[in-house]
Amino acid sequence: MTSATVGGTEGYAEQADALVGPMDAVRFADLHRPILPLIPAAPCPVLDIGAGTGRDAAAFAAMGHTVVAVEPTAALRRYAMTRHPSPAIAWLDDSLPHLATLLSRGRQFDLVMLTAVWMHLDAAERQAAMPNLARLTATGGRLSITLRHGPVPAGRRMFDVSATETIALAAEAGLQLVLRLDNQPSQFNRTDVTWTRLAFVKPA
Ligand SMILES: C[S@@+](CC[C@H](N)C(=O)[O-])C[C@H]1O[C@@H](n2cnc3c(N)ncnc32)[C@H](O)[C@@H]1O
Repeated sequence: MTSATVGGTEGYAEQADALVGPMDAVRFADLHRPILPLIPAAPCPVLDIGAGTGRDAAAFAAMGHTVVAVEPTAALRRYAMTRHPSPAIAWLDDSLPHLATLLSRGRQFDLVMLTAVWMHLDAAERQAAMPNLARLTATGGRLSITLRHGPVPAGRRMFDVSATETIALAAEAGLQLVLRLDNQPSQFNRTDVTWTRLAFVKPA
């Protein structure tokens, strides 16, 4: 499947040149402050799905973690691989909801990140994807999801996904809610955009 046909990536290839600057301008520590205590201190495998420019993958690598960065939009993946040529980051062309290549490898991760990605999936895709996220999360591992609420940027496919639905899907997949923050501000100071941040643990 090419990036042009991956549901949720609409607009990213066309707008990649304009998007990478703003995406890279966000500071990992500012964006992810609420979940910093949930990030393992000891080196561990981290999965970043919809990794974009590699900003977060690079931050995790700098902390000593080994990262699999999944990014279906070739233009973003190529940019990220050039910008962050770290041996600790393995880039993968794969996509939600099935993550077929990744799942075929049978790996699990102590931390799974979906930052500004989940709301690009439609309802059927979200339902299909959550059990796969649970499979990829190691026992005791964490899953972080952020949800954007606000006007849909031109050319993108985006849905107003509720925290309630996401928590219910996660519970069905055996993931326990450990953090919920509503009405989080935009990193770009947009008053018409808010975010929900959710984190889950896969209990023993
Ligand atoms: C708003 S960007 C966020 C990028 C990065 N996580 C960040 O926080 O800067 C959304 C990303 O999700 C990716 N994406 C969209 N649909 C996807 C899908 N079905 N599977 C995996 N990634 C997808 C896009 O290609 C894009 O890189």
